[in-house]
Amino acid sequence: MTFEEAMRERHTVRKFTDKDIPKDIRSKLNTRMFANNEKYSVSMRFMIDDTNAFGFLTKLFLTKGVKYYFILSGGDIFTTDEKLGYCGTDLMLYAQTLGLNTWWVGGTYNRRYINRHATGDKVLGLIAVGYGENQGVPHKSKSVEEVCKYEGDMPEWFRNGVEAALLAPTALNKQAFFIEGKENNVVLSYSNGAFSGVDKGIIKYHFELGAGTENFFWVNDL
Ligand SMILES: Cc1cc2nc3c(=O)[nH]c(=O)nc-3n(C[C@H](O)[C@H](O)[C@H](O)COP(=O)(O)O)c2cc1C
Repeated sequence: MTFEEAMRERHTVRKFTDKDIPKDIRSKLNTRMFANNEKYSVSMRFMIDDTNAFGFLTKLFLTKGVKYYFILSGGDIFTTDEKLGYCGTDLMLYAQTLGLNTWWVGGTYNRRYINRHATGDKVLGLIAVGYGENQGVPHKSKSVEEVCKYEGDMPEWFRNGVEAALLAPTALNKQAFFIEGKENNVVLSYSNGAFSGVDKGIIKYHFELGAGTENFFWVNDL
């Protein structure tokens, strides 16, 4: 499965089967995570066979079977949120290409436990990964026209990028972004909120995958 296919097939899955992730696949995930850590100066950690990410009530009502997850943490206070959104997306889609399912969690996790086990100072949540009980369902989405503006005739690459951005997970499925294009310059803005930095990174990754990085420049880059 390609990353483009993974982007279309990925949906949040909160309940996982007890099937273990084989060692070779765990090792691929780890390698990819370390490459991201190094390239973007973040400090994510892959937790294996660890069932402590969620408290009792969350386990009772919302989730099941989470025993593998990435802790999203980093150290640079100015750019960490967007970078973790971007790197987390790379891991989330990579996991999907390996036949796994994921759940991005910004709020409903056991903060005390996760903060204690994070390798970076700033913790922004986690991504649970495993074999889902199902494949999830597509989220309710805004339309292309609601979330973008292009000066002049909209080129195909720009529309493809916006359509990809609309497939991205966002906190509370807000999709509170706006993408503006002029010639080959693109500006991404996101309305303020607790997760706007993370969501911005997630949207950027998706837009790039849809539009093709060879076709445009971000005016506000990472
Ligand atoms: C930054 C971020 C934080 C999130 N936090 C939570 C959370 O705390 N609890 C939860 O159940 N889902 C959480 N989600 C999952 C979103 O609700 C979900 O991605 C969104 O509804 C879109 O659905 P999709 O992932 O199937 O496309 C979060 C997603 C993102 C991107």
